[in-house]
Amino acid sequence: MIDLIILAIWLMLPAYIANPSAALLGGGRPIDMGKNFTDNKRILGDGKTIRGFIAGSLCGIIVGLLQIWLAPSIAPYLAAYVSSGTLTQVSYIAVFTMPVGALIGDIVKSFFKRRLGFERGAMLPLADQLDFVAGAWALTFIFDHAWFMANFSLAIIIVVIVITPILHVATNFIGFKIGKKNVPW
Ligand code: CTP
Ligand code: MG
Repeated sequence: MIDLIILAIWLMLPAYIANPSAALLGGGRPIDMGKNFTDNKRILGDGKTIRGFIAGSLCGIIVGLLQIWLAPSIAPYLAAYVSSGTLTQVSYIAVFTMPVGALIGDIVKSFFKRRLGFERGAMLPLADQLDFVAGAWALTFIFDHAWFMANFSLAIIIVVIVITPILHVATNFIGFKIGKKNVPW
């Protein structure tokens, strides 16, 4: 079980980093330029900014590249849990599609949240926690199908779906405490 959790976090790390990085570094001009949709509600809202998207993507990409670079040194320490062949099986495409997909998933969720009448920052359980997982997987599935299928077994997918909301709530609570998030979700 612990082996699956370690591998799940390792595989998801570039996507996991993207969201809190966007929250820490975001701000400024909103992606929707402040415009409303046909329903007279904001297209995305002030919580989705260009800087957040770019900074979050870059942080995720940097972490993914670091993982690729460090994998050969880290693999021996994790050998008891994860076979080294798995950790060192890298994809330069996934390093890009995991974080970028995560933030696109977050944007798509905000679009639908606004359509449903939820204000920026309003809680939408599960959608708030799994939006970026869905986005990361979708983009990676499309652009590096072979890597996705080789790494995301059904067991890993289930572990990710279970641990992500827990990790997300924990990081958001920290973000709330240090004053980077207005609400703890
Ligand atoms: N953020 C950003 N740009 C992004 C994504 C996030 O600037 N592309 C920042 C915003 O400051 C946002 C914070 O990260 O408020 C937290 O992100 P999230 O919880 O996804 O946004 P919410 O403010 O909750 O907005 P929404 O209701 O649309 O999810
Ligand atoms: Mg939110």
